[in-house]
Amino acid sequence: MLTKIVISINAETEAQRWHEALASRLPEIPVHNVHQLEISEREAASTVLAVGWKPKREFFSRYPNLLAFFNAGAGVDALLNHTGLPQKLEIFRVEDAGMGQQMALYCLQECLRRHNRTDDYASQQAQGIWRSFESRPLSATHVGIFGLGVLGKQIATRLSEVGFSVSGFSTSKKTIAGVETYTDDLSGFLNRCDVLILVAPLTEATDSLFNRATLAHLPRGAQVINVARGPLLIDEDLLTLLDAEHLAGATLDVFRKEPLPSDHPFWKHPKVRITPHSSAQTLLGPSVDQISGKIRQYLRGERPSGLVDRSLHY
Ligand code: GLV
Repeated sequence: MLTKIVISINAETEAQRWHEALASRLPEIPVHNVHQLEISEREAASTVLAVGWKPKREFFSRYPNLLAFFNAGAGVDALLNHTGLPQKLEIFRVEDAGMGQQMALYCLQECLRRHNRTDDYASQQAQGIWRSFESRPLSATHVGIFGLGVLGKQIATRLSEVGFSVSGFSTSKKTIAGVETYTDDLSGFLNRCDVLILVAPLTEATDSLFNRATLAHLPRGAQVINVARGPLLIDEDLLTLLDAEHLAGATLDVFRKEPLPSDHPFWKHPKVRITPHSSAQTLLGPSVDQISGKIRQYLRGERPSGLVDRSLHY
């Protein structure tokens, strides 16, 4: 069977950009995208590879003979929840491709902002106050990273290199220079975190894990940063702990519902800083380079890295 690739990206211009980029890297393989009206049923049936992000409901029934799906992002939670996802379809996800650096810098900026008391100085300026806060070494701030996959590891390394005290929590043991790692004792891990960064995938185990009881293990005045998925946190519990002054602030890049509904209390909360799921974006060039490399390996009968284990949800 002639190998064919379909791009399933819902925004048409974006799909077109991916289409061109992939076709230029894999000139010997026919590529089409879901927005092309002239794709016949026969052609769809002879398409065995897909590259995409959050395919539409009818996608898998239109392409019944797919063998592998190359996810154009790191998280596969939406894909794994797709009601039409075939049982046997192999899924490969993008690993890093420039996302780790973006996310590490986003987290570094937030940690420095807290450490340097940027918001306190801004509020003093508004009141015309000239007063400096006592300076402390970066190592006095302990940052805990929940999730030490490809992205979490880079955040941990970057923060530790800069001088923060860093620990990390993951389900399987990880070794990272300068970083203390945990695989259990979540409350002991949380007890030490002046800043808690969530960067773990959404799974049955992480869904709503950060609730009133667990967040209460953070020391008073701690800050939470969520760059993973919204459902890891219970919104109301986070708000309760912010209002009770147990937590000093939250930086949220991801939400249970996106875009964040306009009446959500996060929007106007003085201790919450919001970004629109932009802490690490899929970069077209590096991602297409990586995916086309994985496709070549796959077609040679090799096992590319990034294969999703459905039982683990990542
Ligand atoms: C973005 O959230 C991704 O999973 O790549």
